[in-house]
Amino acid sequence: MAEEKYIPPFAVEHQHKGIWYPGVVLDSSIDRMKTFEMREDDVFIVTYPKAGTHWMMEIVGLILSNGYPDKIDRSLYSSTIEMFCVDQKLPRSKKEEEEHPIDWSPFMDVIDKAPSPRVFMTHLIYDLLPKDLLKAKVVYVARNPKDLILSWYNFAGKNPGMPFTMDDAINKMINDEVHWGPWPQHVRQFWDLRDHENVTFVFYEDLKKEPAKYIQKVASGIGRPLSEEVLQRVVKFSHIDAQRETFNKMAESGKGNLVKVGGTFTFINKGVSGRWKQHFTVAQNEAFDEWYKSKMADTDLKFTFE
Ligand code: A3P
Repeated sequence: MAEEKYIPPFAVEHQHKGIWYPGVVLDSSIDRMKTFEMREDDVFIVTYPKAGTHWMMEIVGLILSNGYPDKIDRSLYSSTIEMFCVDQKLPRSKKEEEEHPIDWSPFMDVIDKAPSPRVFMTHLIYDLLPKDLLKAKVVYVARNPKDLILSWYNFAGKNPGMPFTMDDAINKMINDEVHWGPWPQHVRQFWDLRDHENVTFVFYEDLKKEPAKYIQKVASGIGRPLSEEVLQRVVKFSHIDAQRETFNKMAESGKGNLVKVGGTFTFINKGVSGRWKQHFTVAQNEAFDEWYKSKMADTDLKFTFE
């Protein structure tokens, strides 16, 4: 008899207070967020999944380390704050799971003890973030939702654990079933905070087109404006090719907490804008546009879809 297909626990999605999350997100972490103690020099990178979270993590890391990738403190890099620490050997079979059980303690336990300045990432909606969030430096990265949904499909939909189609991905977006909550609410709440002195709101598309300008915006936003020389280094090493090379070197030397699936880093794919055009059918695009209009017509938040 064929062995039953194994779905590891971290792949099993679940709902918490009406929002879908992947299994690696702990309800207990989400519940603890409201009372999580912020430090003023914390840098909180907030994104909707697939908006360029790990890219911004690298940019901020480079800003804080004078543009030298090997000097970045990556001890908090393995998870978003609401996950258990994914820097552990994840089981690929029931037998492996029994032999090496996952440590389900929240990543926040690690973060609580980390030295300043702490840099961490989260995908949680604003309402679920610490009540003192704006005491810290917040960097929000927004990405046009068509590329975002394509990226999510490539990342999660093609995952053999719980595969879904591009149609499913679009329908999930339209029905607010994408992990971490409704995209319009996520992005609009931070857009409304964009003028707050501790909030830096950047678009993925702007970072792609004019990296130096927008990296300097982030650097100033977190209180670390860069000299021209350091800025050029940050631009160079945060380019997708250089970043891939950095990750490869670290993975080879066993440093860092990088997750590779099927031989490639899960958070670096093509890294271009406008790729949705090659993947959305006319019908999918029409359905998406109708939904987008109904959710975004009354805001001055405008995206570049190119
Ligand atoms: P694509 O799937 O469109 O290629 P996240 O870190 O939020 O999961 O985002 C992943 C997306 O950011 C992927 O998009 C990935 O390729 C892109 N990305 C990662 N590093 C990047 C970089 N240095 N420059 C541009 N895009 C990058």
